[in-house]
Amino acid sequence: MQHLQQLVIEAIEKSQFPATPTNLYDPIRYILTLGGKRVRPVLTLMAAELFGMQQMEEIIPAAKAVEFFHNFSLIHDDLMDKAPLRRGKTTVHEKWDANIAILSGDGLLVKAYEEISKCNPVYLPATLKILSKVAMEVCEGQQLDMDYEMRESLSMNEYLEMIRLKTSVLLGGALQLGAILSGADAQQQQLIYDFGENVGLAFQLQDDILDAYGDPDTFGKIVGGDIMINKKTFLLVKLMEVIAPADRPHMEQLLQSTVDTRPTKVADMLALYDKYEVRKSADELKDNYTQKAFEKMEALDVPKQRKEALLVLANSLLVRQQ
Ligand code: IPE
Ligand code: IPE
Ligand code: MG
Ligand code: MG
Ligand code: MG
Repeated sequence: MQHLQQLVIEAIEKSQFPATPTNLYDPIRYILTLGGKRVRPVLTLMAAELFGMQQMEEIIPAAKAVEFFHNFSLIHDDLMDKAPLRRGKTTVHEKWDANIAILSGDGLLVKAYEEISKCNPVYLPATLKILSKVAMEVCEGQQLDMDYEMRESLSMNEYLEMIRLKTSVLLGGALQLGAILSGADAQQQQLIYDFGENVGLAFQLQDDILDAYGDPDTFGKIVGGDIMINKKTFLLVKLMEVIAPADRPHMEQLLQSTVDTRPTKVADMLALYDKYEVRKSADELKDNYTQKAFEKMEALDVPKQRKEALLVLANSLLVRQQ
């Protein structure tokens, strides 16, 4: 695992981009050197290893493609979410401006396709198909996420489908790319994808939890950011579902306020979350998805000891603090 992570980090850090126009390439260099967990490209490598690939070099372009795509989505996501902080540093649209965030994000998306085009030509049609499918689904999820900010009510199923699209499919897709490139058959590809999708659902639940309860010193994003913009996170959707009629007007008031009109907005919302124990519900659902993911892994037809690394990684993501 450490070895694979090292391989990925080196490959990403070695990426070269032209010097000019600086306002196009500097933000790309910036976001790619801010670090991050590099979970998705590591998943691509681990899936390849799971299915017996030994020549890891061969799979590096696919892993880079996945991380480039992810970083593209982060630049645009921060603009859409009006987020000032990413990986502990100023976001691209704040450090430069919105237009630069749009274009450098687009550039990184193109670079993702350039990378995937370098992978084994035998599998190129299959990898292109998966990357494109996943990329479009992420856009669908992001659009729903935006649309839902305005919605007065949202069902838990709508929320879950939204996070499946915006987050989980990319974890599934990262794993499937590794499986494709190591020659795994369709059934095994589906199982590893499903493992990733379930891990991804739990991953986004943890992300929602951290956004409200994370430690500002280690989280790398603004704690309470989702509450400030009325983002329909699991915590808010659950609260809306279970809140007593007597507390509803108070919640509505909070949703209509901003941190300017009500400096205690975040603390007051957190008090409601605590009162209705919505964090506990999030943890329970997270455990459910983790269990499902492990069942998918169980069903995979590879030697047991090869599964260990992915299970350890999946577990670490669910208790992550950043
Ligand atoms: C952030 O992803 C976006 C989500 C889908 C929650 P990560 O938490 O993997 O971000 P980095 O890459 O480690 O910064
Ligand atoms: C992440 O959703 C989805 C994508 C980046 C595609 P969030 O908006 O919750 O991610 P963070 O919390 O900003 O990393
Ligand atoms: Mg965001
Ligand atoms: Mg977002
Ligand atoms: Mg988030």
